Amino acid sequence: MYEALQKEIETFERRTPRSLKAHQRALHSLPLGVGSNFRIYDPYPMFVRDAMGARLHDLDGNEYIDFNLCFGALMAGHCHPAVVRAVESRLKTGTMFGMPHELEAELAEEICARFPVEQVRFGNSGTEVTMHAIRLARGATGRDRIIKTEGGYHGVHDSVLVSVKAKAPQFGDPEAPSPVPASAGVPAATVQNTLVAPFNNLAATQKLFERFPKEVAAVIVEPVMMNVGICLPEEGYLEGLRELCTRYGGLLIFDEVKTGAKLARGGACEYFGVKPDMVCLAKSIGGGFPLAAYAARQETMDAIAQHKVFHAGTYNTNPLVMAAGLATFREVLTPAAYEHITRLNRRLVDGHQRIIEKNGLIAYAAGAGANGALMLYPKPLRNYRDWLTIDVELWKHYWFGMVNRGVLCQAHWWDEQWTISVAHTEADVDRHLEAFAEVAPALARAQEARMSTAAR
Ligand SMILES: Cc1ncc(COP(=O)(O)O)c(C=O)c1O
Repeated sequence: MYEALQKEIETFERRTPRSLKAHQRALHSLPLGVGSNFRIYDPYPMFVRDAMGARLHDLDGNEYIDFNLCFGALMAGHCHPAVVRAVESRLKTGTMFGMPHELEAELAEEICARFPVEQVRFGNSGTEVTMHAIRLARGATGRDRIIKTEGGYHGVHDSVLVSVKAKAPQFGDPEAPSPVPASAGVPAATVQNTLVAPFNNLAATQKLFERFPKEVAAVIVEPVMMNVGICLPEEGYLEGLRELCTRYGGLLIFDEVKTGAKLARGGACEYFGVKPDMVCLAKSIGGGFPLAAYAARQETMDAIAQHKVFHAGTYNTNPLVMAAGLATFREVLTPAAYEHITRLNRRLVDGHQRIIEKNGLIAYAAGAGANGALMLYPKPLRNYRDWLTIDVELWKHYWFGMVNRGVLCQAHWWDEQWTISVAHTEADVDRHLEAFAEVAPALARAQEARMSTAAR
């Protein structure tokens, strides 16, 4: 670890002794001391005391402007008043029924009005809905294999826990990646049914369709890869996937867990003008509650209606969560909100770019909808293998530097990105930029030193 990074980590440790204590306690009763593996990092994770709007406090009372927003799940910001009102008003009229109620169709209609779909089923997490979407695709087509992109993340069920953060030498040829399980416990038989193509590579995707004729049920893709920072689809890529799926008879699934609420009112479908066969939604559609959905044309969903494909869940369409979702769609994800976040994000991305150039950092600022990221890479990423070459130590220097200056610039991990919420203001964005302007000179010096050492 180099000295400037070490200093930032020591500052973090001085500021957050209560987080250390809380983590040491949690280690006794929770593996890694956390509730999800993405929440652990060295030296220990920051523990949260409370959050409201765009502000978050850690256990020591330090205040942060929150651009992490629960891994991008809170375009509403924390405790949005419309969401809180809607949930409070349902709290005393029954919190779960396991029986139909009227909010279900109301929320399904909101989704159908925004996305090119006709019917919806709800779930509680991104994982759950990508799992059901894939099962539906398999049931509807009678085929077993799926294609996913290398580095694409779709949650933690077996079919997609493949080639998420695969490494050499297991990951094989960059043009024809080998499927690599991302966890022990993923059965080899499942991995065999998950084919892997590089993002932005139509020729490689077509080869898989040709190699396994009439065997591919679906292509599942994040329309903007947001589990490698931000990696945009090249001109024609999503259209090309659409064309390949139509030609070879697989269903195109847009995993819009991250993009669905935050890219535009109608998600990536509207933003890129491409019509998938199925859409998966979660994170920011729930306004802070565990809401997820998968949706398709009626013809596809008929496999459920005909009792051919099974979908169920005790917690599905919980009325509190449905109320939160309705308030989010109707009162948070409004045209005015999209104007607000687009304007603020442009200010943040452009500001980053100026600071990058002023300091001679070899990097760029990427942006899409409510999201953006400092990409410590010389040119726009094309795929996962590009992302893999990012200097992680430098990225940590950036993250701890920002956090020590009161800006939680994104979740801790260099595959994440910042999110702008409706609660952020221009002043919050300017404070974010001030913090980056303070960190950037040392970051640029460290980058130069590390590159010249590596070149020797
Ligand atoms: C694109 C994408 N799909 C699916 C998921 C899984 O969602 P969840 O964590 O709600 O299971 C995530 C989570 O980050 C995601 O980014």
